[in-house]
Amino acid sequence: MAKQKADDLTMIQDIILNAKEAAQKEIDGNAEPEFTQKISWPVDCKVGPGLEGAIACETEIGYVNGSMGYLIYRGYDIFDLCAYSSFEEVSYLLLFGELPSKEELKEFKESLNEYRHLLDIKRLLMSFPLENMNPMAALRLGINFMRHKQTYRDQAEVVSKAESIATDEDSIAMETPPRGERKSIYEFRKKQYRRPKNVQAGLVGSEGVGSCIRLIAGLPTIVAAIARIRKGHLPIEPDTSLTLAGNFLYMLTGEKPTPLAERIMDICLILHADHGMNASTFAAMVVASTLSDVYSSVEAGVAALNGPLHGGANEQVLLMLNQIGSEANVEPWFAQMMKKKRKIMGFGHRVYKAYDPRARILGPLAKMISATTPELRDFFKIAQTLEKVVNKSFGKDKNIFPNVDYYSGLVYKALNIDHEIFTPIFAVSRVSGWCARVLEYLEKNRIFRPRAIYNGEFNKKYTPINKRK
Ligand SMILES: CC(C)(COP(=O)(O)OP(=O)(O)OC[C@H]1O[C@@H](n2cnc3c(N)ncnc32)[C@H](O)[C@@H]1OP(=O)(O)O)[C@@H](O)C(=O)NCCC(=O)NCCS
Repeated sequence: MAKQKADDLTMIQDIILNAKEAAQKEIDGNAEPEFTQKISWPVDCKVGPGLEGAIACETEIGYVNGSMGYLIYRGYDIFDLCAYSSFEEVSYLLLFGELPSKEELKEFKESLNEYRHLLDIKRLLMSFPLENMNPMAALRLGINFMRHKQTYRDQAEVVSKAESIATDEDSIAMETPPRGERKSIYEFRKKQYRRPKNVQAGLVGSEGVGSCIRLIAGLPTIVAAIARIRKGHLPIEPDTSLTLAGNFLYMLTGEKPTPLAERIMDICLILHADHGMNASTFAAMVVASTLSDVYSSVEAGVAALNGPLHGGANEQVLLMLNQIGSEANVEPWFAQMMKKKRKIMGFGHRVYKAYDPRARILGPLAKMISATTPELRDFFKIAQTLEKVVNKSFGKDKNIFPNVDYYSGLVYKALNIDHEIFTPIFAVSRVSGWCARVLEYLEKNRIFRPRAIYNGEFNKKYTPINKRK
């Protein structure tokens, strides 16, 4: 048994290192000199709609070279991080810039463990009709509760002025009649959680970092609680003996994950942690640039990630594989899609014009993990056949390859996760990147303020309402 576990983990490492070798053979993974050098502001660049091509800031956090299929965090290749590191270590790396020493990692994990417990927030979430809410909207609600808890706790003088209200242990803010803000502040305090010293919802210095660590630790708990509450189940208390990935799976499914499942979830979290100036990262940075706070910035990231052009294509991929139904139907289905000029879900990328390195890892992992379940094995075969068909048809000519979403849905399904939680999982991982980039940007903050070209009319004469047609 123990040998099997060790063999599985070695096999995963081999899969990743083989993927790395294949990537290196196909492409020469060098950086693009003009996008990896110090610049002096203001900088000249060609800008397209949606700020395409615009350079908004400098960063040392991560770099994507789309034409080479090359992704690094803080200088480390994504393949090496997946093969040798953990999500906790990668989060530390993104936040603090260096890989941690043993002692630093131990301390970081202890903080994450401590902040996994969000009893009061789970209780508040249970009072909302989450089953009727989009899980990403529910996630924003949970983050807002985290912010509320922290900011009000730090306002000692506000709290001391709050009057006592008679409310039993199980009452929650929404269940009591609205009696004004000060009362509800008291109610939050009445939950009897110790107030951590020197931690606020601020943006800079140790306050900002403290909030980031809370968010990285708290999002898995909130997402797992949302998933369970939506199904009418009670949230599960975190198990601090498990890794962040393992505990997340445990809180989602109620079962202790196998080392294989834990490791695969860990790799998925590493793979999604950062990806340049994507829409959600930018949204988080825009909010932070107004000197709002980390919680509000992360909420903005979640809001942006919710859109179907950003997160969520992996859900569509599963629906597509289901619709295709069999390997034999791949070619006729594809021909129909081409006739209708439809896009194939899970293919193509705004930045990657080479094979997405994340898909290089997720593809073989999906194969490995789906091998034991007949339904998933069939889905995987359909996916593989479709990849070949797309490649033969236009893939190679147009540089359209599978992206990160093509195989991740299959992996999550094999881990027994409902498809509606796929995008929230993205947030559980990307929160590390959002936080790191927000903190970095604030070191040289300048409020974001692009321009729009006005091409409306001028000098129109105001007509009073009763004279308008
Ligand atoms: C991600 C995506 C929005 C990128 O779009 P983009 O950068 O605007 O891609 P382009 O428009 O430059 O694509 C170039 C060509 O490839 C085609 N193409 C791109 N993705 C395609 C896909 N998934 N299926 C079929 N054709 C595709 C485009 O139609 C275009 O063809 P044309 O030159 O004949 O007009 C797009 O590939 C897409 O919608 N993919 C499917 C959704 C998805 O998987 N999203 C997750 C992204 S991580």
